Amino acid sequence: MRLPFDARMAATLEHLKPPVVSFHFGLPPEPLLARVKSTGARIIGNATTLEEARWLEERGVDAIVAQSFEAGGHSGRFLGSSPAEALGLFALVPLVADSVSLPVIAAGAIGDERGIAAALTLGASAVQLGTAYLHTPEARISDVHRERLFTVPTLFTNLMTGGLARGLRGRLIDELGPVRGEVPPYPLASEALAPLRAAAEKQHEYGFGPMWAGQSAPLGRPLPAADLTRTLAAGTLAILRREA
Ligand SMILES: Cc1cc2nc3c(=O)[nH]c(=O)nc-3n(C[C@H](O)[C@H](O)[C@H](O)COP(=O)(O)O)c2cc1C
Repeated sequence: MRLPFDARMAATLEHLKPPVVSFHFGLPPEPLLARVKSTGARIIGNATTLEEARWLEERGVDAIVAQSFEAGGHSGRFLGSSPAEALGLFALVPLVADSVSLPVIAAGAIGDERGIAAALTLGASAVQLGTAYLHTPEARISDVHRERLFTVPTLFTNLMTGGLARGLRGRLIDELGPVRGEVPPYPLASEALAPLRAAAEKQHEYGFGPMWAGQSAPLGRPLPAADLTRTLAAGTLAILRREA
C-alpha cells in the first residue's frame, strides 16, 4: 500500500541521493522537506490549479508539473478545489507559467509531437508524458489494458484506490458507476479491492483493477520507449523549426 512520505523514506533519500525528487500530492511537512532539500536533490511539485502552483513556489520547489484534467492516473489535487473546477491543459499551462517564476512541466493528454510543441508554445519548459509510454513493450500492463487504450474512453473514478484518477472503463465501473461516496479514502480502497481483483484476474477479467490512461491514449504508438522518445523529440523539433 502507498503510505505518506515519512522519516524512513527521507532516510532512504539521504542514503541514495537521487538528483530529482518529485512529489505528487502536495509536499511533506516542512522538517521532512528540509531533509530532502539538504540532500541536494532538485524538488518537483505537482499543481492542478494556480493556487497549488503558488503554494508550491512559496515552499521552495525547483519546478512545477502542471497536471491537467485530461491526465492519466491520479489527479494530484491537494488543496481541496472541487474536481468540477479542474482545468484542461490549454488553460492550465499558460496560467501557471504566468503566475510563477519557475520552470513549468506540462502534463496531461500530450500524446504526440503536436501536443509537445503546443505545450512548449503555451509556456511549458518541458513535458511529462505517461499514457504515451503505456503503448511501449516495456510497460508492464495487461494485454486487455493495452488493447483498450485504442478503443475505450477514459473517465475519473475513485473505485480503485479511493483517490480520483483517470482510467479506462471496465467491469467494476460499469457495475457500480465510476464515483461512489462509500469508497474508503485513498489509498485504502486498493487494499479492500485486492482479493476481488486477484480472483477476477485469475479469470482474465481486468476490470476490477485500475487501467489508468489519459484522454490522448488512442494517439499512442507501440514503439520501444527509447525509440518513442527520440521520435517525439525529433518530431517536436521539426514542428517548432517549421513555425520559427
Ligand atoms: C499508468 C500511470 C501511472 C501513473 N503513476 C503515477 C505515479 O505513481 N506518481 C505520479 O506522480 N504520477 C503518476 N502518473 C501520472 C503522471 O505523472 C502524469 O501526470 C500523467 O501521466 C500525464 O498525463 P498523460 O498520462 O495523459 O500523459 C501516472 C500515470 C499513468 C498513466
